[in-house]
Amino acid sequence: MRDFNFCAPTKILFGKNKVEEIGPEIKAHGTRVLLVYGGGSVKKMGLYDQVVTLLKAQSIFFVELSGVQPNPRITSVRDGVRLCREHNLDFILAIGGGSVIDCAKAIAAGVPYDGDAWDFPMGRAKVVNPLPLGTVLTLAATGTEMNGNAVISNDDVADKRGMGADSLRPKFSVLDPSLTFSVDKWQTAAGTADIMAHIFEQYFTLDKGTFIQDAIAEAILKTCIEYGPRALNRSDDYEARANLMWASSLALNGLTSTAKPEGDWATHQMEHQLSAVNDMTHGAGLAILFPVWMRYVLNEQTAPKLAQMARNVWGVDADDDREAALKGIDAVRQFFNSLGMPSSLTQGGIRRDDIPGMVQKACLFGPIGGFFKLEAKDVEAIYLNAL
Ligand code: NZQ
Ligand code: ZN
Repeated sequence: MRDFNFCAPTKILFGKNKVEEIGPEIKAHGTRVLLVYGGGSVKKMGLYDQVVTLLKAQSIFFVELSGVQPNPRITSVRDGVRLCREHNLDFILAIGGGSVIDCAKAIAAGVPYDGDAWDFPMGRAKVVNPLPLGTVLTLAATGTEMNGNAVISNDDVADKRGMGADSLRPKFSVLDPSLTFSVDKWQTAAGTADIMAHIFEQYFTLDKGTFIQDAIAEAILKTCIEYGPRALNRSDDYEARANLMWASSLALNGLTSTAKPEGDWATHQMEHQLSAVNDMTHGAGLAILFPVWMRYVLNEQTAPKLAQMARNVWGVDADDDREAALKGIDAVRQFFNSLGMPSSLTQGGIRRDDIPGMVQKACLFGPIGGFFKLEAKDVEAIYLNAL
């Protein structure tokens, strides 16, 4: 096993009504807060009122940034940066799903930075001394509640890109599974697909000797296979929501990628272009692309790892690695279909004409992927196979 450093410093407050503990957690870092939320789900479920009451009870000054959209836009980030500067705010509290939290992170990075916040996703600026932030998570999917990444969309250039820094990891995250009871079937399914996709991106490497990382990854995949359908069948199944929520955080806090190279991440980069072109739900785009990517990259070198997933996760019984891998890939497709996710780009509203632009942006900085390096022609072939 390679050497590694592992540090996941976000304090997790897990369980029913854990939001009640945010006052002292915020005060440990700041007293003037930007409260960031989305299109209204937090108001419907009563979380907004509860948080506002808690902030007032602790005499914490706050200003609001609402209306953050799924696939959060750079325009919201700029608004947030302006509010923080105008009101001299020193802490950001995000209440919502991945989009709200990612927007909060980009704001946190943008406040001390002299230029435009879009410089971060474009790799033109490094994150230095961001504002501290905390989160109350309402959707199990992205893992952003425990990592330092954010993904931001820019409609002006029809692009969506990631940024990240360890200093953007939330100081604390409240994980109350009952806050996800109101997540609808579509978002529950997309969230489950996203968690699984994060595991795939880190599991599929050519490194050997990472038995423990692989075993944890396989357990997280099995958790999604067990509890994704349960949460779809009964939205207030606490056990299902709790397992999915913890799976979300563990899948992308660095745990399963320890001692591995960077991971693959090509499928995420290809998916971000689907969201950029058609505002597609992230997990739905991944559900379309992942089985197509697996089939495309299957060769003599990659077959053993794909076969390992097939056998250990899906119970495939086949001696030949290629045969096992193909069965495992079919199982992934069938599972995503059973969750109600789309299986083609056409179903997702992407047209053949969109593909050249998506290829160009996905490969803006050269070939993508680690398990299998994809050139622009490969990315084009995968998009076409997924049509
Ligand atoms: O806007 P509101 O009204 O809050 O509604 C949201 C939104 O419409 C709704 N929702 C959230 N919690 C709810 C709820 N509805 C009812 N009850 C609740 N408890 O769900 C919709 C989708 O929300 P969103 O935040 O967009 O979903 P998700 O958490 O899946 O986040 C997706 C975004 O995260 C990025 C994706 O690219 C996408 O932009 N990702 C971030 C990552 C990271 N930072 O590490 C990694 C991921 O791979 C991903 O790329
Ligand atoms: Zn993802």
